Amino acid sequence: MQAQEDSTRPSVSGLVDRFGRMAMDLRVSLTDRCNLRCTYCMPEEGLAWLPKQTLLTDDEVVQLVRIAVERLGVTEIRFTGGEPMLRPGLVKIVSDTAALSPRPKLSVTTNGIGLTRLAGALAAVGLDRVNVSLDTLRPGRFEALARRSRLEDVLTGLRTADEAGLRPVKLNAVLMRGINDDEAVDLLSFALEHGYELRFIEQMPLDAQHAWRREDMVAGEEILAQLRSVFTLTPDPHLRGAAPAETWLVDGFVGMDGEPAKVGVIASVTQPFCGACDRTRLTADGQVRNCLFSEDETDLRGLVRAGADDEMIADAWRAAMWGKRAGHGIDDPTFLQPSRPMSAIGG
Ligand code: GTP
Ligand code: 5AD
Ligand code: SF4
Repeated sequence: MQAQEDSTRPSVSGLVDRFGRMAMDLRVSLTDRCNLRCTYCMPEEGLAWLPKQTLLTDDEVVQLVRIAVERLGVTEIRFTGGEPMLRPGLVKIVSDTAALSPRPKLSVTTNGIGLTRLAGALAAVGLDRVNVSLDTLRPGRFEALARRSRLEDVLTGLRTADEAGLRPVKLNAVLMRGINDDEAVDLLSFALEHGYELRFIEQMPLDAQHAWRREDMVAGEEILAQLRSVFTLTPDPHLRGAAPAETWLVDGFVGMDGEPAKVGVIASVTQPFCGACDRTRLTADGQVRNCLFSEDETDLRGLVRAGADDEMIADAWRAAMWGKRAGHGIDDPTFLQPSRPMSAIGG
């Protein structure tokens, strides 16, 4: 659905919404496909992938990112998926976006498998850093959880990214009840040993199977209690800003940068951070979403392919942002899980 025109929308260049938030962080999904099948994300057989002709071409992706950077004030670009390393044109897309002015910050959120092959090339063309999913350090569990036996590839990928200078290397762990909810301490010990910055994520209702149940979710407070049984955590004095992770300093440990080591919790469900959200999203098939949980999308692919000029596209994007809701409303009785799963929206 296209965003409605609204005469109350101010005539400003940036991506503002009715609640005074401004989006400067663009998350671009480059594919809905993945080479893992994490149980909390996708069914074993995969999903009905987006038809190829609906995917933005590499040039169309770069065109839309350019409009966001040049006209809409976007300063940070995160490439996501599905698994973004499966996108054949990734290195070229990063290279072209690194050449934009003003140069945006560039990062990738990945399952890590492709890093051994691509970290060097990505760093060379201007990628700044990576976030890597790592839910378990136990090979058997990894295979049960991701339905593929690829833990070693992920660990090698992490080392390659670190050596290529894609720092800080951040780790994302989703803990699931009865599956890996006893691994918080081990994961943090691993991260501290290698100088990676670990964050625990509360599972959100974004799975393709619609199997999420709040009662099963491992909440941030529970994870912190596990960590505090071994580590001393003190609140991070740095301003959080729009970051989804609330961070703590881990007493007695130092990070790669010589600063105190940190651990984060992304408590999207129990402590939503929607009020500070500075994000806008572009799906692999060229739809703008103003929220992970939005019901509406705005079709920029159609505009691009109809030959719309940059300002028309920029204005459709602004109108989409103006319609952003105050929050995800997971706790609201009327909450509806979005029809697209996370792998098709971009994490
Ligand atoms: P950095 O800390 O800057 O690297 O960003 P990030 O933590 O957002 O990046 P990442 O892609 O690693 O996402 C980590 C988790 O945060 C994932 O589970 C995302 O789904 C979740 N997340 C990212 N953006 C949003 C958002 O807009 N809303 C909510 N509720 N969760 C988000
Ligand atoms: N809830 C929270 N995080 C999720 N991720 C995937 N699905 C979910 C979900 N339903 C995580 C992945 C990855 C990041 C992009 O989002 O583990 O690290
Ligand atoms: Fe792939 Fe990420 Fe989904 Fe796992 S969570 S199947 S790595 S898209």
